[in-house]
Amino acid sequence: MSQNVHHLDQVINRREVPALKTHSIVLGKDGEKLFAAGVADMNYKVPEPVLRAMQTRLDHGVFGYETVPSALLPALTGWLHKRHRWQVEADHILRAPNVLNILAIAASLFTEPGDGVIVQPPVFFDFYDILNENNRCLVSNPLRLDNGRYSMDFGGLERLAAEPYTKMLYLCNPHNPVGRVWNRDELKQLGDICGCHNVLVVSDEIHGDITFNGHTYTPFAALGPAYANNSITCLSPAKSFNIAACCSAFTVISNDERRKAFQVENSRLTVNKNNAFASVAMEAAYTSGGPWLAEVLTYLEGNLALVREHLHGHPQVQLIEPDGTFLLWLDFRRLDLTPAQLDTFLRQQARWAVTRGPAFGVEGEGFARLNIACTRAELTQAMGLLKTAISQLNLNQIQENSND
Ligand SMILES: Cc1ncc(COP(=O)(O)O)c(C=O)c1O
Repeated sequence: MSQNVHHLDQVINRREVPALKTHSIVLGKDGEKLFAAGVADMNYKVPEPVLRAMQTRLDHGVFGYETVPSALLPALTGWLHKRHRWQVEADHILRAPNVLNILAIAASLFTEPGDGVIVQPPVFFDFYDILNENNRCLVSNPLRLDNGRYSMDFGGLERLAAEPYTKMLYLCNPHNPVGRVWNRDELKQLGDICGCHNVLVVSDEIHGDITFNGHTYTPFAALGPAYANNSITCLSPAKSFNIAACCSAFTVISNDERRKAFQVENSRLTVNKNNAFASVAMEAAYTSGGPWLAEVLTYLEGNLALVREHLHGHPQVQLIEPDGTFLLWLDFRRLDLTPAQLDTFLRQQARWAVTRGPAFGVEGEGFARLNIACTRAELTQAMGLLKTAISQLNLNQIQENSND
């Protein structure tokens, strides 16, 4: 690589491995011609210290059963404290293969089939799958959208939390896909409502490290002991350091009874084994990945500015300004297309493979989620294609193709 090229500008061919983002499972046939910007991971090579730690572990050559490395828990608590001013007791942490696993275990352990779990759509689609697959009742409290900014509907929340069958709330903090980094006041209000009605907060904070200038991520449990006691936090270096395939999540549960119950369930399901590569990747990321993450955040802000710039003068597509995350929520409603027509427009005319808005709930109709954790060159090209597609918007052609 030339000295002048930013390392994040380096194009890495995701197709050399079975990456989900570029795979036909996600892209469908002829997908290799599309701008793959759906699956929520980054196209960037992980921090050097993470690569080195994994290489050293690989060079050791023996991969028999292992326990948790002694430096791992201090690495996690150190990160949470230094970066997010959250003091976590090491023995409140339990490891997990991934965040979805924590969400699923929390629902199955602390609610009964038929109990209600509040979600605030448009929201991460796997919340729906987990609740449906566990026969929990989805209680929807849609976010409000006013003047291009999302907020929580606290009136709705109060009403739904008061229902006797409502036992849990899945919080997404920061919120995928709308990019809100909930502030302290919002989280407190939510926490007070849930606390008052004995609704357990399961807070998915996987995007917590990815915030833009001027926005601060507040861990829900860091609001105070009462909030910590009524919550289960799901964390992972998967998004922040691009190591989702290392399966290295963890949960913070400060309530002793719930943590013990979770631990017992983990061993019943035998998901309490340690993956040697996950351990070293995680430890290296949290101890030495900070400078890399800072560069990524600056680069993402550059990509965000680029999208903003390209959409300037194209009022048909509205960018919902994010506070954080590398996922942009784009409002295409002014194009006045049906969901099928919008899919066709994005895929066939703009050549974009992004995540369809309705995947996040009916509130997502007319929207799509764009992943900007790619190179600036890829994004520039994609934005050019979108603008051309808008200017050539051919409704007849879309109509025909969406009927295929
Ligand atoms: C909000 C949110 N939670 C969880 C996940 C998945 O996490 P994991 O791969 O650890 O299950 C994602 C991935 O996109 C996500 O956006």
